[in-house]
Amino acid sequence: MSDSQVRTIYGMLSFKHRSKVLKQLRKTASPELHGHQIWQSCYMIMEYLEQHPPAEQTNILEIGCGWGMLGIYCAKNFNAQVTLTDADANVFPYAHAHADLNQAQVSTKHLAFSEIGESELKDKQILIGSDICFWPEIVKPLQALLTRAIQSGVKKILIADPGRHPFLRLAEYFVTEHNAKLLSWTLDNGTKNHGKILLIETGNAPA
Ligand SMILES: C[S@@+](CC[C@H](N)C(=O)[O-])C[C@H]1O[C@@H](n2cnc3c(N)ncnc32)[C@H](O)[C@@H]1O
Repeated sequence: MSDSQVRTIYGMLSFKHRSKVLKQLRKTASPELHGHQIWQSCYMIMEYLEQHPPAEQTNILEIGCGWGMLGIYCAKNFNAQVTLTDADANVFPYAHAHADLNQAQVSTKHLAFSEIGESELKDKQILIGSDICFWPEIVKPLQALLTRAIQSGVKKILIADPGRHPFLRLAEYFVTEHNAKLLSWTLDNGTKNHGKILLIETGNAPA
């Protein structure tokens, strides 16, 4: 596809704002919970995973996936089995378009944080989410979800954020109660964009 339609970042292709594909998608699907673009925080986790690659075929759950670039990156680069979830079904046409563009296989499920239970979590080794804790009312359901993930045996949790207050509250809880780490991260892509990664590792983390 031509450079006028797509850009490449971290080896991943994404449709440009004015591309024909996005123009067409916008006619039928309008994400309503900020899932209308790819957010910078996902690149922090891509960089982290580049340095700490998961094993082949790892089962990964992405929460609040939006256009799903982070999960698609994992499927493409680590041959991971990826499930993308989001509370807003309108993001999935964008996620499928980007999975096809990058020739990656992912599955999607329409699930809010509060709807993700043990049956979804029990076979996952890694849980990822970028820029998902942006309202104060999201802290409680996310705290409960991450706690369920730990209890269900998820080995590693990575949540990235520019450093907003709700995210920092969430992070503080897991640093205090679960020995999690809060990593400061500056992107290595020339933008110097920076933020934080909450890293929760339980037991023998796979990567
Ligand atoms: C700022 S966007 C980030 C999207 C994507 N993770 C990224 O980094 O590009 C926030 C995403 O979280 C989703 N979201 C918001 N509240 C949610 C909830 N309670 N449960 C699940 N997903 C939610 C939105 O639909 C949206 O796709």
